[in-house]
Amino acid sequence: MNNVILILCILPQDIALAEKKGIDGFVLNVGSDSWQRARVADAYEAAQQNGQGFKLFMSFDMSSMPCSNPEDGKKLREYITTYQSHPNQLKYKNAILASTFAGQDCRFGAKSLNEGWRNTLKTGLPPVHFVPSFFVDPATFGGLNVMDGSFSWNSGWPMGNYRINNNSDVTYVNNLGGRTYMAAVSPWFFTHYGKDTYNKNFIYRGDDWLFSERWEMLVKNRASIGIAQVISWNDFGESHYIGPIEGAQPRSEAWTTGFDHQGWLDLVQYYSSGFKTGSYPVITRDRVFMWSRLYPAGADAPDGIGKPTNWSFTEDCLWVVVLLTSPAQVRLTCGVAVSTTMVPSGLSKLGLHFFADCAAKVEIFRGGVLALQFAPAKFAFHKNPPNYNFNAFVAASP
Ligand SMILES: *[C@@H]1O[C@H](CO)[C@@H](O)[C@H](O)[C@H]1NC(C)=O
Ligand SMILES: *[C@@H]1O[C@H](CO)[C@@H](O)[C@H](O)[C@H]1NC(C)=O
Repeated sequence: MNNVILILCILPQDIALAEKKGIDGFVLNVGSDSWQRARVADAYEAAQQNGQGFKLFMSFDMSSMPCSNPEDGKKLREYITTYQSHPNQLKYKNAILASTFAGQDCRFGAKSLNEGWRNTLKTGLPPVHFVPSFFVDPATFGGLNVMDGSFSWNSGWPMGNYRINNNSDVTYVNNLGGRTYMAAVSPWFFTHYGKDTYNKNFIYRGDDWLFSERWEMLVKNRASIGIAQVISWNDFGESHYIGPIEGAQPRSEAWTTGFDHQGWLDLVQYYSSGFKTGSYPVITRDRVFMWSRLYPAGADAPDGIGKPTNWSFTEDCLWVVVLLTSPAQVRLTCGVAVSTTMVPSGLSKLGLHFFADCAAKVEIFRGGVLALQFAPAKFAFHKNPPNYNFNAFVAASP
């Protein structure tokens, strides 16, 4: 399903930016395309140029790589051996960390999943800590002894029309029996490819401050989570990128142009610090983060690809997160829709339903005096969408 993920160019400035925002490393999604080998080399080179602190590891995209005979496994092994001694290779529990997207049907010519993967990644190689994202019933984890842990790819989003919960984390952790659990956190999901291209056109529910709620869950339950993986840095096709829009795009311009997501990066900084240390950073200045679709979910558009599947799972609402140094009155405005709330110091989440063409604005007052006004350029809703664009428009005050 998620087979359009690419390693787009990882640039040295991406690594410096990610590191500055509290991200410890990148996982490189590696498929079968021949150009990917060189992009992986670029990424390791860029990481090294940046220093030794930022780490990389491989996730083999088994929706793309063949895995029916031992030869197929050679390609994966080459990726491991090429970077086994690289100073920026992520080591976890004294072994090379490696992950996958899918791969539950791979046998590499062996009789069983365990044997196939063991031959591929755990025989004649330096130790590999294997944390795949097999799409299998977690109740079978006990028998999957080739896994040193598991990544729950879909744990980053509600898999239906409900608010995010940690059921998937609980099931994974309970069935891993102490092995490494890698949890997903993602801000959004919208992909809009017609039948003539990748033929995937759907949303996952990103309402109710999904990114914040999910991060808060991971921070609270950090004792049972080894690694938090943010999906993603640069998957433009699925609209969950948090890095800058740059490089070649997988035909996603129609929904990403003008939709920069870097406003989310400072939230990553705040939450990742909580995740890594157990306590949130001190808030030294008021901040406003806001995001929303710019068009009503139910509106019709002149767009031959059609509405994304499950479009009705999302409400027309402006999602706002504020970081306050001290209690304040926070006013959200969009045209005639106005909401004023007394908000304590710290992080709070607020929302405003909108109905009309209007521009969004957030104001913070203390003692009746305006302390901060944030009305980002182009943050405006339109009742009549030019196409079905369910991507999030994201803004953060400086
Ligand atoms: C749409 O929602 C239904 C009901 O939750 C779910 O079964 C289905 O997988 C969803 N479709 C997509 C493409 O996400
Ligand atoms: C799931 O959430 C509940 C309630 O907050 C918590 O008690 C539990 O430890 C969490 N489990 C995991 C594995 O995150």
